[in-house]
Amino acid sequence: MASTKTKTVWFCSHCGNEYSKWLGRCPACGEWNTFVEKEVVTGPAGKGARMSVPGEGRKPLPLKDVSTTQEDRVSLGSAEVDRLLGGGIVKGSLVLMGGEPGIGKSTLSLQLPLHRPELKTLYVTGEESVKQVKMRADRLGGVADNCLIFSETDMGTILEEAEKVAPDLMIVDSVQTMYCAAVDSTAGSVSQIKEVAAELLRFAKSSGIPVILIGHITKEGTIAGPKILEHIVDVVLQFEGENRGAYRVLRSIKNRFGSTSELAVFEMTGTGLREVANPSEMLIPMHEAGLSGTAISAMLDGNRPFLFEVQALVSSAVYGTAQRSATGFDVRRLNMLLAVLERRAGFKLGQKDVFLNMAGGLRITDPACDLAVIVAVLSSNFDMPIPADVCFAGEVGLSGEIRPVSQAARRAVEAARVGFKRIFVSSYTHFDQKPQGIEVVKVADIPALVRALFK
Ligand code: TYD
Ligand code: MG
Repeated sequence: MASTKTKTVWFCSHCGNEYSKWLGRCPACGEWNTFVEKEVVTGPAGKGARMSVPGEGRKPLPLKDVSTTQEDRVSLGSAEVDRLLGGGIVKGSLVLMGGEPGIGKSTLSLQLPLHRPELKTLYVTGEESVKQVKMRADRLGGVADNCLIFSETDMGTILEEAEKVAPDLMIVDSVQTMYCAAVDSTAGSVSQIKEVAAELLRFAKSSGIPVILIGHITKEGTIAGPKILEHIVDVVLQFEGENRGAYRVLRSIKNRFGSTSELAVFEMTGTGLREVANPSEMLIPMHEAGLSGTAISAMLDGNRPFLFEVQALVSSAVYGTAQRSATGFDVRRLNMLLAVLERRAGFKLGQKDVFLNMAGGLRITDPACDLAVIVAVLSSNFDMPIPADVCFAGEVGLSGEIRPVSQAARRAVEAARVGFKRIFVSSYTHFDQKPQGIEVVKVADIPALVRALFK
């Protein structure tokens, strides 16, 4: 039982799934030619075979005997990041911060210790020299006496130093550049990434030091990385947004110590990332001149209502087949909504190109956005602008009916606060209390919506 043995397994370098034999196409993610071979040690001595939370025995405990003290949290000096984490970073937790290159991961993670100088931080970088980090810190306008910069990529050395330094917070930039000498493959490979994360998790759990691990992710997700780590780490924060745009959205997609689907908005400025405490005002660009093809949605992400702009462009298809493209919105959902418009309301969009864009580089999953998408498409199609003080919150069903959405009252209140005068919702929406300062227009289906807006 105590003996160990070595066996060969195959990993898909795209999704990280493990197989016992080589395959041309990964059954899990469908990618071709992504298999890489790796030797693993199995048995009790194998790395990662055991992992437990410090201070906890290896015996099952009756649930009623488990003490429930509040988790110990450390504030990171950024109200928005603290909120995303559920009130600060939990001691001994491993947080993965993923995002495309250039989106601002290094900037944000360096900004945290600079804005919270009393925290002793160990910032490990495998991507930049200490000089480069210093230059960035100068640009961010911060001096932190307690922030140690360590340019190193060998996990053995890093963990040794970390134990000596015993910081309050450790940041590792990035998982793709680190390597463990015990694993026989290059930095950035699936096996290295997994092992680096596992080592950091062990370190965090045994020392109680919170660790922020940065991981690059590409648009297509082709580089093995954060995706395969999501189940290992405690929290996953993901940076989204167009690199060219000023706004960046940090979203919590997994959190063992708090709620998920919360988001925080940042603006990239010349001196680092600025928190946008009230996203409504930032995400709605000035739209005084009535342009057709835009509609404002009152949406809810996580627990926070805010308003943002949906843009659509409908034009005659130049080539035989019409194009449908959506940025920040599920293109299948767009196709579904267009089919509903065609079948249930008689709009002939089959020969039209339809482009949809969520302003601010946001990725939208709230179904309440359907109504604004439909309105933006119709507005562009008729070339009729929507009044600037009108917003929408409703889900659209397959038979063209408009369905109520969650927390409609909070959306209406937020819309009123930002200055909107009318909000369109489903006829079936129930308000305990009539929202103040905004007219609620109830519509049952798409024909009723068209009558109300495009007479
Ligand atoms: P960076 O944080 O290095 O991104 P990542 O670590 O995710 O790859 O860089 C973000 C981008 O932001 C980079 O193109 C430079 C720019 N930037 C600013 O506009 N202002 C600043 O103060 C800083 C530090 C960077
Ligand atoms: Mg970086």
